[in-house]
Amino acid sequence: MTAAEVTVAAPAPRGAPGADAPAPASVGARAAVTAATATNAPAMAVEPPNPGVDGERNIVAFLCRECAYSAADAAGNARTALPPTIRTILVPCTGRVSPLHVLSALAEGADGVYLAGCLEGQCHHRVGNLHALDRVAFLKELLASVGVEPERAAMFTMSAADTPRFVATARGMHETIARLPRLRRG
Ligand code: FES
Repeated sequence: MTAAEVTVAAPAPRGAPGADAPAPASVGARAAVTAATATNAPAMAVEPPNPGVDGERNIVAFLCRECAYSAADAAGNARTALPPTIRTILVPCTGRVSPLHVLSALAEGADGVYLAGCLEGQCHHRVGNLHALDRVAFLKELLASVGVEPERAAMFTMSAADTPRFVATARGMHETIARLPRLRRG
């Protein structure tokens, strides 16, 4: 499967959270955006992922534009150091990230994937973040059932102003994945 084959999310049902929002621009690790670039928003330059040489990990972070992405932007403006393993992808709402997006990122090179969305009760698409929390919980069970460490998938919630939480979650995910072996495929 190529990154291009998974760039379009399944359309959300009418009235579903995020149904009026466009799907993520890209989901494969190959289309990841560096944290440094993302935090220099609004311009987003897509570049190839880190090849993972010398055991370096790749982590894909789907960031809701209403909260986590703003927090990431503020971290970038403050020149806060972020783990080089984090590749951020801007999404309109975490409710638009499907399990397939996460699995595709893992299949194509990511060692870990996380979603960062609005606080519960504050999703701009009503309950998109609650759906995302359910999906990540499902994914953890799915990964565990096939022998993959469930902590490779995670979700966090935060406000747009909570830059310290964004930085802490990025560093925490980096440390979690660093303790795991590279994800074996095939
Ligand atoms: Fe932020 Fe839905 S708009 S998680």
